[in-house]
Amino acid sequence: MPTHELYTNDPGDYLWQVPASGAARFSWEYEDGRERLLALYQKGKDKQWDGQRRIDWDLEVDPYDVLGTPDESISLYGTPYWAKMSEKERGELRQHYASWQFSQFLHGEQGAMVCAARIVESVPDLDAKFYSATQTMDEARHAEIYGRFLHEKVGMVYPINDNLQSLLGDTLRDSRWDMPYLGMQVLIEGLALAAFGMIRDTTTKPLPKQILAYVMQDEARHVAFGRMALRDYYKQLTDAELREREEFVIEGCYLMRDRLRGVEVLENFGIPKAEAEEYSENSEFLALFRQLLFSRIVPCVKDIGLWGKRLQQAYVDMGVFEMGDSNLDLLMAQDEEIAEKLDAERFAAEEQARVTEVREAIEAGAAEG
Ligand SMILES: [Fe+2]
Ligand SMILES: [Fe+2]
Repeated sequence: MPTHELYTNDPGDYLWQVPASGAARFSWEYEDGRERLLALYQKGKDKQWDGQRRIDWDLEVDPYDVLGTPDESISLYGTPYWAKMSEKERGELRQHYASWQFSQFLHGEQGAMVCAARIVESVPDLDAKFYSATQTMDEARHAEIYGRFLHEKVGMVYPINDNLQSLLGDTLRDSRWDMPYLGMQVLIEGLALAAFGMIRDTTTKPLPKQILAYVMQDEARHVAFGRMALRDYYKQLTDAELREREEFVIEGCYLMRDRLRGVEVLENFGIPKAEAEEYSENSEFLALFRQLLFSRIVPCVKDIGLWGKRLQQAYVDMGVFEMGDSNLDLLMAQDEEIAEKLDAERFAAEEQARVTEVREAIEAGAAEG
């Protein structure tokens, strides 16, 4: 079904054009790659997969309970609105929230694909271009999968959140090659990754769990690249140049914390914007969720060397400063393990089913004979 039939609100023009600036760069040195980057490129090639085949699309999804997570996670929970809603309306609200959340993932993945392609074009070294070409394909796969999930299973799509779009536009319009990386890979994808992880670990439904686990397995490589490329590059920058990047990070973090809350969902249920914002502000669950959203960004920013006073102060203010000490390598290794374990479990279950089938066939044959 075409997406325009599934949009909750008219997204306006169906084509968004962001004027490009900056140079396309070629390198004539073909044999001078950094080992760690080339190893990541190799891993990117080895770990390609097909979302049509690896994911069990036959699994059914209840659009009114896509994730099976407790209703406490909905900002309206416990308010007079919630008390007045029928079970049917609550189901619709759950559908809208799941659609909003996964639609932002979908639009974000398209952004990630475009940014990865931009990096292929603009980054000076060939090893980084090679690697980013594999990431471009990864992001295409992610957009494909989230798109299919929304169209076939949720049956509803939300337009991109205005603030997410403006952050994406800012990162793409910047002519400095590291800015798409910082904006997209560190900020937007760092936030997305934390959200993926929380849903992966709390959903009781097998299809979204598979999707999130497999997407996160790829993202572990993306984060590794961002850290390598930016850490090397930021060592060469002046203090003033580093401060500019830190300002960008601070602004982006506040924007994502305060303006990416799904208020548009409540507006679609007739709740005035100010009131909707208040509900999302006061929800204890969401306050915790918002903090956890930074669990991937803060250690990454610190690791690449953007750890000036103002940035530290901003993170203290947001209550996420301590996250700077969490072990990113460990988190990434766990993401990869979870996906591998899920594969192993699914394979074992299939194997078991096949063995049972063969045994039954033999027994049936023996009974007849
Ligand atoms: Fe992605
Ligand atoms: Fe990514």
